Amino acid sequence: MAGVEGRVVVVTGSGGGLGRQHALLFAERGAKVVINDLGGSRDGTGAGSEMADNVVKEIQAAGGEAVANYDNVATREGADGIVKTAIDAFGKIDVVVNNAGILRDVTFIKMEDPQWDAVVKVHLYGAYNVTKAAWAHMREQNFGRVIMTTSTSGLFGNFGQSNYGAAKLGMVGMMNTLAMEGRKYNIHVNAIAPIAATRMTEDILPEQMLQQFDPAFVSPAVVHLASEDCQDTGIVVLAGGGQYARVAYFQSAGVQLSEVPSVDELAGKWAEITGLDGAKPAGPFSAQS
Ligand code: NAI
Repeated sequence: MAGVEGRVVVVTGSGGGLGRQHALLFAERGAKVVINDLGGSRDGTGAGSEMADNVVKEIQAAGGEAVANYDNVATREGADGIVKTAIDAFGKIDVVVNNAGILRDVTFIKMEDPQWDAVVKVHLYGAYNVTKAAWAHMREQNFGRVIMTTSTSGLFGNFGQSNYGAAKLGMVGMMNTLAMEGRKYNIHVNAIAPIAATRMTEDILPEQMLQQFDPAFVSPAVVHLASEDCQDTGIVVLAGGGQYARVAYFQSAGVQLSEVPSVDELAGKWAEITGLDGAKPAGPFSAQS
């Protein structure tokens, strides 16, 4: 069986935006989907069941299979509840798409601990909690696909998003290790860096970009990463507005010294160390291949 037909998929934060699009496409391709959403506002305040329920209804109306869950990814109990919903409703858990997210944008000078904590809790702890709840099941069945939703804000930086950027690149760090630990159990862990017009970006992206960046463009990349056919693990794929590309680290040719250099000697070689002419892809998997 190729693709995602018959797979049981959790998409966190799928009551709207990108998560909803991913869930609709998974269901259309024959997967059984857990629609998890806390139902709060963009900054993570509030809660409700309506968002998740509506997406479940939409999938069922189109002849697909879905079940709602309203738990909070930021807590261990919430994450356990999400995976339990998958197992109770559909008997297993094959795919986790860590998509739930909130924003508390503020420049670093004005950052307060609650703004930092709330964002790191939902994105980084949320991805840890839900992946952790599913991991043992995936190992046991010798199949799993985990997709982290990272961001260009973490990969490249974005003004006013030090909390969000840290959490988003933290998810890539977690991916790097989980890709290694999951490999021999056929658990693949990858990341998507989306760009899409949603409530999260409605006042960030310019109007013209909003029209171009239909979230539906992102979902085929997520579904492909979740499929049995996709053998990649530990990669980051950028997707938005019809563009699909891989983002990876490069390492400069640098220098190799046999003696401890003085600070001045090293400073003299700085351009050679940091210049990217002749740089090669860096990382355990790319270096091996
Ligand atoms: P969105 O705000 O429409 O979707 C996020 C969903 O997560 C919401 O439905 C929300 O209720 C849910 N959620 C928030 N906290 C939760 C929690 N603790 N537990 C369960 N559900 C929770 O925004 P969008 O744009 O669809 O974002 C989806 C993901 O994509 C997020 O992780 C976001 O950071 C990421 N992303 C989006 C980009 C974009 O251009 N829209 C760019 C880069 C990353």
